[in-house]
Amino acid sequence: MLNVTDLNAWYGKSHVLQDVSLKVDAGEVVCLLGRNGAGKTTTLKSLVGAIGARRGDIRFDGEAITALRTYQIARRGIALVPEHRGIFGLLTVEENLAIAARKATLWPLAEIYKLFPRLHERRRNRGTALSGGEQQMLAIARALIGGPRVLLLDEPTEGLAPVIVDELADVVRAVRGAGVAVLLVEQNLSFCEALADRHYILDQGRIVYAADRATFAGASRERERYLAVTAD
Ligand SMILES: Nc1ncnc2c1ncn2[C@@H]1O[C@H](COP(=O)(O)OP(=O)(O)O)[C@@H](O)[C@H]1O
Ligand SMILES: [Mg+2]
Repeated sequence: MLNVTDLNAWYGKSHVLQDVSLKVDAGEVVCLLGRNGAGKTTTLKSLVGAIGARRGDIRFDGEAITALRTYQIARRGIALVPEHRGIFGLLTVEENLAIAARKATLWPLAEIYKLFPRLHERRRNRGTALSGGEQQMLAIARALIGGPRVLLLDEPTEGLAPVIVDELADVVRAVRGAGVAVLLVEQNLSFCEALADRHYILDQGRIVYAADRATFAGASRERERYLAVTAD
């Protein structure tokens, strides 16, 4: 569904992504792992056209989308939930959802509230009144109500309590079950391992490792080398 070949990206003169190739298919959760500064966020931003200086081939259902504008990419159904969530603090939960809603979605408001019962309870509260976990739920809900076919999540579990992380895992499973392609950027290795069908490791702007979940489970050398975690 989403096929990326030799993606390069720059901030000024700094060449941040170097020949990144990856793919995500429908109904698949793919994790992009890597240390701080490896280029994970830059990869996601490049996919939605939010990095000006980029080169490479990004295809969505076979169509080259590399040169498209951010809004054109969004319209095709690629949704980024950024690290800092980007919800409107002065609007209520329901208003945040209403402005993102599109007709062609598997998750109209009633379905959103089934998937996120907490958001239903909090629907009249403003964004600023929500906990970190509720804000993350709302950010994902806003993406879903827009009818994505590819969902890009940038460190969704960051700073969240374990019970909320478990709820998020259920949401990601439901999204995969609906046939959406999910590209998940994480530092939380156990969250990734619980969910992902495949893994990529990014290091200094390059893909240095790619594996399916079973192979990755046994890849203790790569974990130590690129993620600085010891096998348990
Ligand atoms: N807006 C920016 N301007 C210049 N350099 C940046 C900018 N954003 C990120 N970088 C640099 O690009 C590299 C990759 O950053 P990033 O994609 O945010 O990494 P990650 O998400 O994996 O932590 C880092 O070296 C970072 O310092
Ligand atoms: Mg990042």
